[in-house]
Amino acid sequence: DWTMAAYRDEAIEKIREQVGDRQVICGLSGGVDSSVAAVLIHEAIGDQLTCVFVDHGLLRLGEAEEVTTMFRDHYNIPLIHADESDLFLGELEGVSDPEQKRKTIGRLFIDVFQKHANEIENAEFLAQGTLYPDVIESVSFSGGPSVTIKSHHNVGGLPEKMGLKLVEPLRELFKDEVRALGRELGLPQSFIGRHPFPGPGLAIRCPGEITKDKLDILRKADAVYIDQIRKHGLYDEIWQAFVAILPVRTVGVMGDGRTYDYACALRAVTSVDGMTADYYPFSHEFLGETATRIINEVKGINRVTYDITSKPPGTIEWE
Ligand code: XMP
Repeated sequence: DWTMAAYRDEAIEKIREQVGDRQVICGLSGGVDSSVAAVLIHEAIGDQLTCVFVDHGLLRLGEAEEVTTMFRDHYNIPLIHADESDLFLGELEGVSDPEQKRKTIGRLFIDVFQKHANEIENAEFLAQGTLYPDVIESVSFSGGPSVTIKSHHNVGGLPEKMGLKLVEPLRELFKDEVRALGRELGLPQSFIGRHPFPGPGLAIRCPGEITKDKLDILRKADAVYIDQIRKHGLYDEIWQAFVAILPVRTVGVMGDGRTYDYACALRAVTSVDGMTADYYPFSHEFLGETATRIINEVKGINRVTYDITSKPPGTIEWE
């Protein structure tokens, strides 16, 4: 008889057996996966766990504060908050190719993580919130050759490079199971129900070159969009929703004046595991109201489009 409570107990036992009395480092991303992994491991070994939260400056509005407050103040989990946004944004300057972006972020993430992890004495293990779909990310289309669609930066060569052994307690789980486990561990529903957020963060929602200016605009537009979705009671029906800021400015008119600002695309999909997805059928009323709010409330955007591509052929993220 397989229940989440039993899975949790078994996972805790396994972690204790694997780790013994040694120290574990866990990389927190702010997402549900790494958070559930961290709380599970904390439950198993308490203060033998230290979390490192690499803030790459590509997070959503208010996200860094939420994560540090929850882990430090609510759970009392030792946490290093590494604010490295200047480094990341500096290195990403002039980079517009999606794979190069992902690889740059992945490489920096490893460097920065390593630097901060070195502050933790006697660490022998690295914990990661790797899920089953991450493990099988190489997708095979209808019997064709195996193709890597996107380089994920959370399953890299970090452990070997740091001489650490891996702890991956979510490796056999799909997203919905991770949420059930999180609930079992007492994480608040508002947190567990959060839409997935990719490791490279807003970088892959900003096709073309990333600038601080564009990121700030994107963060604001995204916050308005998510607020709209929550207000209409649609958040939990949607697997993932976000705004992408497009690398193009278009002409508009507001009041008596001409505007020349960025266009953005709204994305919302339903999905079971992120491997396939359908675009969400918003009402035109919702879309119109949201476009009006974004244009009125976010300086720098004067055009809003809705992405109606399912996966396949599109991917969920734009890069
Ligand atoms: P795509 O865009 O490939 O995304 O359809 C499928 C799911 O994976 C998330 N995603 C990532 N998650 N690191 C992550 O942790 C990554 O590099 C990454 N890339 C995409 C995406 O948000 C969606 O939920």
